[in-house]
Amino acid sequence: MISIQAAAKSLNIKGKDFLTLADFSPEEIKGLLEKAKLLKEAHLQGAETSILKGKILGMIFEKSSTRTRVSFEAGMLQLGGHALYLNSQDLQLGRGESIADTAKVLSQYVDAIMIRTFSHEKIQELAYHAAIPVINGLTDLYHPCQALADLLTIEEINGELKGQNLVYVGDGNNVAHSLMIASAKMGVNITIACPEGYEPDKSVLQLSQEFAGENGSKVIVTSNPEEAVVNADAIYTDVWTSMGQEAENEKRLTDFADYQVNEYLVQNAKKDYIFLHCLPAHRGEEVTAEVIDGNNSAVFQQAGNRLHVQKAILSEIL
Ligand code: CP
Ligand code: NVA
Repeated sequence: MISIQAAAKSLNIKGKDFLTLADFSPEEIKGLLEKAKLLKEAHLQGAETSILKGKILGMIFEKSSTRTRVSFEAGMLQLGGHALYLNSQDLQLGRGESIADTAKVLSQYVDAIMIRTFSHEKIQELAYHAAIPVINGLTDLYHPCQALADLLTIEEINGELKGQNLVYVGDGNNVAHSLMIASAKMGVNITIACPEGYEPDKSVLQLSQEFAGENGSKVIVTSNPEEAVVNADAIYTDVWTSMGQEAENEKRLTDFADYQVNEYLVQNAKKDYIFLHCLPAHRGEEVTAEVIDGNNSAVFQQAGNRLHVQKAILSEIL
């Protein structure tokens, strides 16, 4: 049976916010992945742990969620702690109470806050005023818990991350941004293939290229998905219309029409390429059913890994 003691080895990031992987060194990310693997193994073996006994996570949601909500709540319970689901509309936050006051008040009651919100500045403000660690459960700019689960999935299937070729086809959005940072930190080559006008944020591109330079990999942005997927070890896509962009849906359907991940596109990748998607997916839009439900797809393993990486994050920062 896996030793929980071994799984409890510490990384020295106690008390730290988890807002973006840019704030973590490659060694710390590697450590979180190692810890996630140990916790996953322990969970699969039915080993119990109570390393977060008495700890409470407050979870503020300003947008919908299935995976983030359930995996954080289940993760806290599995580690012996507790999680509170806080819909922002039910909080005074939804009636105009300031982020600063909310942060200071919640810091009196709970041990960490996970928030899913719109602007990244808002989570930075919350973290600034909170006396407890704040975890990013998705902002318009980043989705770091997702990227950590994505790295774990690629590593489980393909082994050593360094030198892998990851190709993201679609919108240069929050998921793409976190993947760029995570890949660059771990020496994974990442190509973003997106239509003109939907490129990743320039400052995120610059930051990830700096990290890639330090870790011997490349970050490339192109508008040609066919060329991008040649030699891909993993192909990733996300919805064309993110939460908060619903008014642009019709225009996006047209603008992204040539960026669907389908049988034709994946022919150019390595035969044993892995298909990844953060989910929720829209079959027939960004990906066809043949691809997402096909043999190369690892999307449910990927979704499952959200639980394990988040347990690693929680156990390390709490
Ligand atoms: N991938 C992801 O974050 O899913 P949810 O929106 O369901 O949380
Ligand atoms: N880019 C998507 C990810 C959902 C998990 C969104 O922000 O809606």
